[in-house]
Amino acid sequence: MFGAGTDTSYSTLEWAMAELVRKSEVMKKLQDEVRGIASGKGMVREKELNKMVYLKAVVKEVLRLHPPAPLLLPRESMEDCQIQGYDIPKKTRVLINYWAIGRDPKYWEVPEEFHPERFLDSPIDFKGNYFQFIPFGAGRRICPGLHFATSTMELALANLVHQFDWELPHGLTREELDMAEAPGITIRKKQRLHLVATPSFPQGS
Ligand code: HEM
Repeated sequence: MFGAGTDTSYSTLEWAMAELVRKSEVMKKLQDEVRGIASGKGMVREKELNKMVYLKAVVKEVLRLHPPAPLLLPRESMEDCQIQGYDIPKKTRVLINYWAIGRDPKYWEVPEEFHPERFLDSPIDFKGNYFQFIPFGAGRRICPGLHFATSTMELALANLVHQFDWELPHGLTREELDMAEAPGITIRKKQRLHLVATPSFPQGS
């Protein structure tokens, strides 16, 4: 419960910040949206999140490219069955490579590109109805923390980009930012992300 509820959300936030500093036009578009809606307020509040459609698209795009649980959780087949001509005996362990599905060019245009716009005006959600996008799994064992996770990640990310401007440390270019993944049950960034934060408005205002 603690592992499922902490590692996943913070690793997604770290990937989100890494993708945003690599693509300044996406960062700017997100900041424009968040700062426009939260203008004059010190903190973004939960009730404002519903208006932030681009923020939601950014979080979805991060979960497509960097799913914290790349193989979801293992399943076991209950009956003998046939799938695409293969006989699958009862009690076969099934692993679903969602990481690969999220980057499959059969389902996604320019799949390797971080492009949140693909989720704008799209009905695709992560509630298990669209099998090309199941970062939280699907069916009866779908992640029970789905709504809690998305609200906390959206709220944290909105406040990070609202309160600060973000740059890479001196001397590091966007192209040099290491996006390698560390192996594990959850996929984290191999190298910790270090960024320089500058308050975007006078503190205390
Ligand atoms: C980015 C955030 C998160 C992602 C991507 C995520 C993803 C997942 C996935 C893929 C599963 C397996 C579902 C399946 O195989 O169909 C799962 C299960 C689970 N998640 Fe999450 N999760 C996240 C956040 C959270 C949070 C915040 C909590 C709790 C507060 C949580 C609690 C759980 C629990 C308890 C299970 C096991 C459910 C079961 O076995 O029936 N998760 N999660």
